[in-house]
Amino acid sequence: MAFRAHILGAAAGGGLPQWNCGCDNCNLARSGTIPPQTQSSLAVTADGTSWAILNASPDIRGQLADTPALHPTGLRDLPLRAVLVTNGDIDHVAGLLTLREMQPFRLFATAGIHEVLAENPIFNAVNATVVPRETIALDAPFELVPGLIATLFPVPGKVPLYLEGETVETDLIGDQTVGVRLQALDSTAYYIPGCALLTDDLRARLDGADTLFFDGTLWADDEMVRAGLGKKTGKRMGHMSMSGPDGSIAAFEGLSIRQKIYVHMNNTNPVLRPSSAEKAQAEAAGWIIGQDGMEVS
Ligand code: MLT
Ligand code: MN
Ligand code: ZN
Repeated sequence: MAFRAHILGAAAGGGLPQWNCGCDNCNLARSGTIPPQTQSSLAVTADGTSWAILNASPDIRGQLADTPALHPTGLRDLPLRAVLVTNGDIDHVAGLLTLREMQPFRLFATAGIHEVLAENPIFNAVNATVVPRETIALDAPFELVPGLIATLFPVPGKVPLYLEGETVETDLIGDQTVGVRLQALDSTAYYIPGCALLTDDLRARLDGADTLFFDGTLWADDEMVRAGLGKKTGKRMGHMSMSGPDGSIAAFEGLSIRQKIYVHMNNTNPVLRPSSAEKAQAEAAGWIIGQDGMEVS
């Protein structure tokens, strides 16, 4: 039993290119100059035959088609046994609607996230008698797929965009945004695609991990504002940036983690350009820039 992961989608919501975006990265991806990336999702296994998908992105149909390890092994036999969602964001749950063909798998989430799904009746298309919705308490380990023990823990974040009220708390700590600890034999991996702030608690939790997949949404907090693409900063979206004194590169300095991999990158992030100075800077600080199709063990 050895932990293996396959990055199904390395981009944040919208993907690269995003349908309505004419930023430099999106244009470069459209012209084939830089690799396109699909939306946020990670497939994991411990035994190599039963797989779980962490977050079901709107691109899941293509992601499954492009990943032989997840192809059907019989008429309706599938390596996919479980889906776990870490928040209610559209980029993490919309793919559930693609999985509505009465194919059994288990759907894991916290009570708060299941509540969001239950409030959206369109998800009844994923029939709960075939796809049981299993509620997982914070800090309670459970077997996600054979040999892979998962534990959910709170991560500072906000409610999904479509549930935002007039005022928004962007670093809520509860069960609406979680990280996942994955344990297979003696190796430990963490998956945290959205994180507003690396608290001391989180730092202590993550220290010593073998593998970390972490929120790489933006390079700079005001990147989208400066590009003329909108008014929102990373902080407003509940994402800490990579660079700067409050950034994740600085926040993880001094922690001992064998491999640190950025995922959930917004299409404006310069690290998505293979020859950018920012990518080189992140790599020099010990980070790997995740990519669609990347295999991690
Ligand atoms: C996010 O990660 O901030 C959300 O996915 C944004 C969105 O809902 O598009
Ligand atoms: Mn997202
Ligand atoms: Zn763009």
